[in-house]
Amino acid sequence: MRLCIIGAGYVGLVTAACFAEMGNQVVCVERDPDRLAALRRGECPIHEPGLDTMLAQQRLSGQLVFTGQLLEGLRQVDIVFIAVGTPAQEDGSADLSHVLEVADQLGRHLSRACLVVNKSTVPVGTCEAVAQRINRQLASRSLDWRISVASNPEFLKEGAAIEDFMRPDRVIIGCDEPHSAELLQRLYSPFLRNRDRVLVMGLRAAEFTKYAANAFLATKISFINEMAALCSLLDVDIEQVRHGIGSDRRIGTHFIYAGCGYGGSCFPKDVRALISTARQQGFDPQILRAVQARNTLQKTLLFEALHQHFGGYLQGRVVAVWGLAFKPGTDDIREAPSLVLIDALLAAGARVQATDPAAMAAVARRYPDAIGNAQLVLCETLYGCAQGADAVVLVTEWKQFRQPDFLRIRGAMRMPMLFDGRNIYDRAELSGHGFLYHGIGRPVAGHCKVTAA
Ligand SMILES: NC(=O)c1ccc[n+]([C@@H]2O[C@H](COP(=O)([O-])OP(=O)(O)OC[C@H]3O[C@@H](n4cnc5c(N)ncnc54)[C@H](O)[C@@H]3O)[C@@H](O)[C@H]2O)c1
Repeated sequence: MRLCIIGAGYVGLVTAACFAEMGNQVVCVERDPDRLAALRRGECPIHEPGLDTMLAQQRLSGQLVFTGQLLEGLRQVDIVFIAVGTPAQEDGSADLSHVLEVADQLGRHLSRACLVVNKSTVPVGTCEAVAQRINRQLASRSLDWRISVASNPEFLKEGAAIEDFMRPDRVIIGCDEPHSAELLQRLYSPFLRNRDRVLVMGLRAAEFTKYAANAFLATKISFINEMAALCSLLDVDIEQVRHGIGSDRRIGTHFIYAGCGYGGSCFPKDVRALISTARQQGFDPQILRAVQARNTLQKTLLFEALHQHFGGYLQGRVVAVWGLAFKPGTDDIREAPSLVLIDALLAAGARVQATDPAAMAAVARRYPDAIGNAQLVLCETLYGCAQGADAVVLVTEWKQFRQPDFLRIRGAMRMPMLFDGRNIYDRAELSGHGFLYHGIGRPVAGHCKVTAA
């Protein structure tokens, strides 16, 4: 099929690359000139395992091309995918300006009937609004055909996006007429050869499913974080509790890791947008509000623990931060817990040394002043990062940080103090190496507790 993907971000690029890989002819439209230029030079502008190799192969084969001109993407097109951002607005609601702008562009430029599919995460009713906008323009151009809009929310995880797209748990297709569903089922069939996981439902149900899925996962995280806070007050190790409850198949082992909060481009904004949707309906979403409040608090815990440990005085202290991306496997720092910690440390006068395998460029762009006056130093290795530090704080659990040479780290530090924001280390092992160790919701032997009211 001939596909046009609008937006070359995390979702658009992965979608474009994976559909091209299955033999479709794909044109990806991107309006950011720097990003477009990088893609045309053969560079992958985001860190996503496996994506750079796929893009390079498809560029050579001509299966996937990048353009800034929507018209180029619409020539002979069968399906247009919208994959642009829907960031949170000030009031928490989803900013639909990019999606609606694309709808207007499509209304102006489409020259043949095709299926328009929305992949961006959008509130219920948006696909209907997109269809109306496009069709109104088609009518005003005196064209006698109309298009339909389907919803196909994306569930990929950054850091494992190719794998998720190639072997999806399910593909949700929301549409109100059978032809669109058949076309999308045909497009997805190579990805689902071993298991038919296509779920066809109403347009509005598909839009809502995406928010409900993210809200549920965020709820699991905030739930375990709340249990961790209680554990540390009761001298119970949340890690033992996690194993205890995770072995129950009704609960499951995923998304019940206590930590320093969830970030990223999806959970925070999608929970916020769902709260906003609920309020617009005059409904008080009590669980969602609590999920959000717990997460906001959770992101402050590491700083609070450091503050308490150093007697409320962090001026001149050197703190090493391991992990800046909102999760391992990506360079995405949107709403990352590391940023909340770094902001607080800089405000308290601490010197921050930070490292990350993929997200240093993004962090450098965010803190030009602190880097300029050397209050924030980005380090190539975790050992360099720990040099002269009064404390190490693990924020993102990259594999590279799992089994470092702790003796070497202790030797480099001014004080052997480790705050484990993801509970990946073993207290006994760390103590054996002479470290003072603080986890999230883990018993503390005579030292400050990482807890929250
Ligand atoms: N990132 C994820 O892990 C993820 C997962 C599932 C769903 N989503 C959802 O998918 C959508 C896209 O997310 P993302 O992370 O890929 O966003 P992103 O911000 O990384 O990428 C969006 C891209 O679209 C481009 N763009 C915007 N308007 C355009 C236009 N008119 N024409 C051409 N290009 C345009 C932007 O320049 C940008 O490169 C969001 O609604 C998001 O919530 C994201």
